Order: sequence, then C-alpha cells, then structure tokens
Amino acid sequence: KQAKCIVNKHFKIADIDRRIYGSFIEHMGRAVYTGIYEPEHAMADEQGFRQDVLKAVRDLNVPIVRYPGGNFVSGYDWKDGIGPKTDRPKRLDYAWLAIETNQFGINEFADWVKKAHSEGMIAVNLGTGTPQEAGYLAEYCNVPSGTYWSDKRREHGYEQPHCFQVWCLGNEMDGSWQTGGLSAEDYAKKARETAKILKWVDPSVELVACGSSSKEMATFPDWDRTVLETCYPYIDYISLHRYYEYEGNTANFLAAFYDLDNLIHTLKATADYVKAKHRSDKVMMLSLDEWNVWYIKHMDIKRWQWAPAIAEDVYSLMDALVVGGLLTTIVNNADRVKMACLAQLVNALAPIHTAVDGGVLKHTTYYPFQQVSRYARGGVFKSMLLCDDIDTPKYGRVPGLATLSTFDEVNRTFAFFVLNTNLDDEVELVLQLEQFGDLQMLEQQVLMGDELLAVNSFDAPEQVIPRAKMVSGEIGQEFTITLAKASWTMIRFE
Ligand code: AHR
Repeated sequence: KQAKCIVNKHFKIADIDRRIYGSFIEHMGRAVYTGIYEPEHAMADEQGFRQDVLKAVRDLNVPIVRYPGGNFVSGYDWKDGIGPKTDRPKRLDYAWLAIETNQFGINEFADWVKKAHSEGMIAVNLGTGTPQEAGYLAEYCNVPSGTYWSDKRREHGYEQPHCFQVWCLGNEMDGSWQTGGLSAEDYAKKARETAKILKWVDPSVELVACGSSSKEMATFPDWDRTVLETCYPYIDYISLHRYYEYEGNTANFLAAFYDLDNLIHTLKATADYVKAKHRSDKVMMLSLDEWNVWYIKHMDIKRWQWAPAIAEDVYSLMDALVVGGLLTTIVNNADRVKMACLAQLVNALAPIHTAVDGGVLKHTTYYPFQQVSRYARGGVFKSMLLCDDIDTPKYGRVPGLATLSTFDEVNRTFAFFVLNTNLDDEVELVLQLEQFGDLQMLEQQVLMGDELLAVNSFDAPEQVIPRAKMVSGEIGQEFTITLAKASWTMIRFE
C-alpha cells in the first residue's frame, strides 16, 4: 500500500504542555505497597522508596503524577496518612476492598514525586469527604505556615509547603461504583463550593472538575454540560477518562485512537456550548486524567487483603500499538488537552511491574510512551494524511495509519510517529516536510513482530521492545519510509 503525509511548519496545532505525558499512582493493588514503596526491599532508600522503580519512572519521563486515586480517594481520609507512622490507622478501603495501612500518605508522596523528577496532581475526596476537608488538605500542603494545618505539616517535618499546583475535584463522581457517588446537579454544586475554597486557600492552583467517567454512561454528555454550567467560572479543566480492551476484534482494538479522537471532540463541543451560554472568554481545557488499555473484565478483587495483586495486566505487542495510537490522538489534540495521565504507573494496569522482593519489568506499553514523552517536544503540527481506510465493525471506516508530527524549535529536531494498523500490508509512506528546512534522518525505531500477543516477562524482558532500523542519514525534505504491517514507528530528524 502507498500513503502520503504532508507536514507544513505553518500548520501548527499547539505548543505541547509537557503535562500531557503524566501518569497516575493510586492506592490500588500493589501500586504503592510493594510497588513504589517497599521498605524491606534491598533497593529501598531510607524512606522505603524502591530506587529501581524510581529509575524506571524517571526514565519514562512523566512530568506529573496523579494521586491518591482514582476510586480510592472517594472514601479516603488524608489525615490518616500524616504524622508518626506508628499512629496511623489501618482502614478498610471501600474502592478495592483492601486493607489500607496508611504507611504512605501525602508527605511521602510529595517526597517520592520529587525523587521521580515529577510533580503531583492531587485528587480530593468528594465522595465521603467535604469541601472543608479538601480545603484543610490544601492548607496542609500549600500554605507556608501560621495556621493550624500548615503548622501541623511543619510539625510533621515539612518546613516548606509542597505547593501542589493541580487539584482534581473528586473522581468519577458519576459512577454507581463510586463511594458517595452523586447526581450531576449535586456533584456540580459540591465541586463548585470546593473549588471556591481551594482557590481561596491558594489562588495559584489549577482545578479539574470531573467529567463523565466514560462515554458509555447513560448520563454522558449531560453530566459534563451540567458540571460545566455550574462550575465554568471556577475551574480550569474538565476531565475525561478512557480505557480500551481487546474484545476479540483486532481492527476495532487498533482503531482506539479514532474513538478517543471522537470523544475529545464531543467534550470540546460540550465545553464550547457552555462557554457560549456563559458569554465567557475562557476556553475550557481538557484533562484526560485516566487513559490506557485495561483488561477490566479480568479483574479479580480479593477481599480485605493488604496490597493484593489486582489489575496486573501483562501488556502485549498489540496493546503497545494501541497505546502508541492513543498517544498520537492525545498529542494531536494538544490545543485543548493540556494534561493527560497514563493510568496507571506501577503494577496496577501499568507499564512498570515489580516483583515483591525482586526486580522491575517494563511491559510493552512502556516503550511507545517513553518515546513520545521523550521526543515529542515543542509544537505539534497538523499531519495531512492520505492513506487507505480500514473497515472496522465498531467504528466503520477508519484511516489505516495514525500519525504524529512534532518540531522542537529550540533543538531544531523533528519527531514523527506512526501506527500502521494494516494487519497484512506494509505501507510505503512518503513523508513530506515543508518549511522546516533540510532535515537529516537520525534514527528510526520500530515496534513490530509476528506475534501480536507477545509480551515481556522476567525470563524474556526484551521480547517486545523497539528495534533500531538502519538509517541512511539522508538529508532533505521528503523521505520514503516502509512501515511494517501492524507496527509502531518513531523517526527522528535534525
Ligand atoms: O485506574 C483505575 C480506576 O479506573 C480508577 O480508580 C477509576 O477512577 C477508574 O474507574
């Protein structure tokens, strides 16, 4: 097959907000305990943080990490996780029916996220929690001193405030599974009142209100409209969450990038409708604060265990291709999607897996994410793509390729990413780069294989990783690239 992609420097979509490459640590399964925190481990530092995990996280380049949930946050009292560890209560976590020992709380997270070279995005409990308690948390974290909660933090050994910038007003509050779930009207009022308090406590914070937890919810997109109508002047972002899983049809699954694009457009339209109603100049930005492949139907909840191994999906080559495709959509929408979190980061539906008392394994999905977060810098440019469509049972005709083009003006580097969803065909792609000057192809890496279900394991940790392809070092403005069937390719130019 033949295809053509034209990228012109005059057609810039947006500068990329680095926080689009965020991720997520929830108190879920073994994400925290025996994931990022395992004091008994040989690689643990003086705070009990696994340094081998920290290294894998740093190498992934995640500039922001959402915490502590997720569903967990809606029954969580943040005060349980502060002060001397011996005094912290053991609680039942209603979200995952697990035992929470509270040995890792907000201060440990603040330290950990710094060591991960990242920053925190804090979710507050709007399920069983109140706006007032959310305000106290913001006071504890962000006020320098001189008040009850800020002085408590100092008493706990943290002289300087944590200064968390981004705050999520609850999590998936439209869900029947959510502890303390609410109707759109009730959530909207609670979110608005919480937003007011958080901005009074620290006017510099950025706030994210809960949009629908999925587009399959019966209340979508009325929920989003209602929340936006009530909260528009008080918030900076509306959230969306999206997960995909393989349900037996590969064409559908590989077309996830197309479905996500439609969802983003619907939410943008909803937000812009409310903007017009409010006669507002403010453009509401989107926070895709949970996205990934997640085999939710395979979840096996174990009741009332500490750090149970749940949702430990082992990702295949096919899953990695889907993640690559989703990344192209996310970054191509960087004019409105300013933050996004790969959900999650360690053990629970995550690219990084740990063995208790053992090593760290990078699942297949680690690699496309790492490539994009490392190299898709600067501005994202419109890829004008001419290629054959693929017939998918679920979405109809979908382009067979998904592309992403970014140019970093500072370092004068161009990065191109492309997913080929054709299962049986190579594609010869002509890439025409206009107005960028002559560029030299520096590197080409390809993720491909005969076995779409191949995975990485401790026995074969590099079974599925991107492989370098020989590049001729050619210089010019037009390049012909052969894309292997069912593959993900990254090419860098300078
Ligand atoms: O990321 C796992 C779960 O997915 C989160 O806790 C929840 O917000 C979503 O349903």
